[in-house]
Amino acid sequence: MEIRTASPEDLDAVTDIAAIVDPPVDDADLDVSYYRHLLEHGRVVVAEASDIVIGYAATIGVDRSRHLSDLFLHQDARGQHIGRRLLDAVWETDAALAPRQAFSSVHPAAMPLYIRAGMTPLWPLLYLNGSAAALPPSRLDVQEIGLALAADHETQWLGWRRHEQYGYWMQRPGARIFGVRDAAGIVAVGGTARNRSMHSIGRLVCVDASLLPDALVAAASWAGDDVMVAVPGVSPAASTLVDAGWRIVGHDIYCASEPDLFDPMRVLPHPGLL
Ligand SMILES: CC(C)(COP(=O)(O)OP(=O)(O)OC[C@H]1O[C@@H](n2cnc3c(N)ncnc32)[C@H](O)[C@@H]1OP(=O)(O)O)[C@@H](O)C(=O)NCCC(=O)NCCS
Repeated sequence: MEIRTASPEDLDAVTDIAAIVDPPVDDADLDVSYYRHLLEHGRVVVAEASDIVIGYAATIGVDRSRHLSDLFLHQDARGQHIGRRLLDAVWETDAALAPRQAFSSVHPAAMPLYIRAGMTPLWPLLYLNGSAAALPPSRLDVQEIGLALAADHETQWLGWRRHEQYGYWMQRPGARIFGVRDAAGIVAVGGTARNRSMHSIGRLVCVDASLLPDALVAAASWAGDDVMVAVPGVSPAASTLVDAGWRIVGHDIYCASEPDLFDPMRVLPHPGLL
């Protein structure tokens, strides 16, 4: 078994194993553009046995940190410390030089690896699904905007340059990038996409934490009726959705090597790209 750095030529090998170990839910097609994005803009390492990829890990740079996008092993290869070796290989530098973040699955072998890699479990990321029609009214308006304008707002509000990630979000099926406005101008930006059965809000960033629940309600109503979104459990936006009868259909645990890399009160993250 060998661990090696992947290149864009490994797209087929990575998507072949991803389709087995992390298949899309709801009969959706595998999002090949996500893996292409990781291979072109992130760092991907693969575990290979007899020339067959049996697992992979990927990270992406977010500001001064590295975010763990994926860590997946074929069922038959688990429990042999290959996951630990993939994780060790996927960081480009020491945690002291580039702080680390990850959304840990609830798989019992995932969290110990992240804790040993210097990350502390901090809060749950709730996957919520529900009807936009059940939500309270919002006083904010939503309109489609260009990806550069959305990314520019994130740079202004968070200091992050996410133009490449907006490029990926724009390639997803049914993708629309939006701005949420009050009377003074744009107060939140984000993106929606859709698969065969529902819409999703893949990202939402607010200028001010107090506006996040209202911005989410406005964005969900604009996205479509049946909507999926990932919301930090510590955000008041989570109770807005749960109070409206939305269902928690799963959760991951946010882990980080520093406590303030990500603001869960102002940002609804994309789990793979943060
Ligand atoms: C998570 C995953 C990548 C881990 O890889 P792996 O090769 O199976 O794990 P490893 O053998 O490297 O190490 C797991 C460690 O967790 C430990 N562990 C397992 N269950 C545990 C538990 N309940 N409590 C504490 N530690 C536990 C193991 O003993 C091992 O530690 P050790 O080195 O002291 O023996 C792999 O199991 C996998 O692909 N799981 C399904 C997909 C998934 O959930 N991926 C994570 C996405 S965030």
